[in-house]
Amino acid sequence: MSSSTSTKATVAVLGGTGTLGEDIATVLLTEFRESFPTVRVFTRDPSSSKAQAFAKKGADVVALDIESLENALAGIDVVVNVLPTSLSEEVRGKVNETVIKSGAKVYFLSEFGLDHRIADFTGYEHPEWAGKKRLAAETRALAQGKTKVIAVYSSVFLEFVVSSFLGPLLGFDLAKNVFTTYGPATQKFATTGKSDIGRAVARLAVLALDPSTSASVSDEVRIAGAITSYEDVRDITARVRGVPKGEIKVEDLAALEQSLREQKGKGGLLEYIRLAIGKGWADLSENADELVNPGQTLWKWKTVEDEIRIGA
Ligand SMILES: NC(=O)c1ccc[n+]([C@@H]2O[C@H](COP(=O)([O-])OP(=O)(O)OC[C@H]3O[C@@H](n4cnc5c(N)ncnc54)[C@H](OP(=O)(O)O)[C@@H]3O)[C@@H](O)[C@H]2O)c1
Repeated sequence: MSSSTSTKATVAVLGGTGTLGEDIATVLLTEFRESFPTVRVFTRDPSSSKAQAFAKKGADVVALDIESLENALAGIDVVVNVLPTSLSEEVRGKVNETVIKSGAKVYFLSEFGLDHRIADFTGYEHPEWAGKKRLAAETRALAQGKTKVIAVYSSVFLEFVVSSFLGPLLGFDLAKNVFTTYGPATQKFATTGKSDIGRAVARLAVLALDPSTSASVSDEVRIAGAITSYEDVRDITARVRGVPKGEIKVEDLAALEQSLREQKGKGGLLEYIRLAIGKGWADLSENADELVNPGQTLWKWKTVEDEIRIGA
């Protein structure tokens, strides 16, 4: 696959060995290498096996030291931040400030989840999204148009929906063939494969850097590899695995909302995600998929069926 433009840019991935970062860095180093001849992967441990594997693929592997990050980003056009939200807000703010100071042209914030503009937890905001909102606002204020600051909202990772560890916690118990939803099982929600997030980031960077297309890239971009529902996942599981259609259990959405309200932001992250799905806040049917991958001519988005087949 090629991004089929003449763009040649340098890109850095902060947190490039992580759950999402590894996929993004891999896509940049392989499918989008023509557009990004220099891929700088930041890690606390350049000697780790993942870091070494990236070096073998031609990455510039650099030790992450926030104090010297500005220098380490010299000459970098695009920065993709995939550091975790477990870092303190202060540290994450410092990273954002440093990226802006570095003079990067395009900066992807560490978002890659719910579109928190529509996920309305007013009065019981979870620190995950409250922090992301504050940091995004601060960073955009610092950037003042000099750096294009982009938030990509891609909803739940497709790999998490199907995973034997996290899937059941989100109500997708493929092993037991039981699907537990809050609210209607037909409620649509988005889910995106991690490599597809990487491809979308690469394409958005290319589009944002090219003066003829930069205006087409919004500051906040929704992508959706697949739009599905608990019922769809149940049906696909039955088809792919050759098992009877599994049980759908419907839990009380209003009770979940009430419980999270009463916990005033201290409720579990996964419960918030389940509430968001039940409320329809994770339905990213209106999205920029056609902008980043017109008619799926650049790649085929990974589907729920693809992911279930991998584990079948
Ligand atoms: N939509 C979803 O379903 C979903 C799921 C998970 C995450 N996300 C979002 O995706 C973004 C990235 O999250 P992630 O789960 O991919 O991150 P992660 O894997 O937890 O961390 C990414 C990398 O950051 C580095 N790192 C970890 N702790 C650090 C620390 N204290 N100081 C400096 N570096 C540290 C590690 O690299 P080294 O060890 O190599 O330094 C790690 O591999 C976040 O914004 C998160 O909210 C979305």
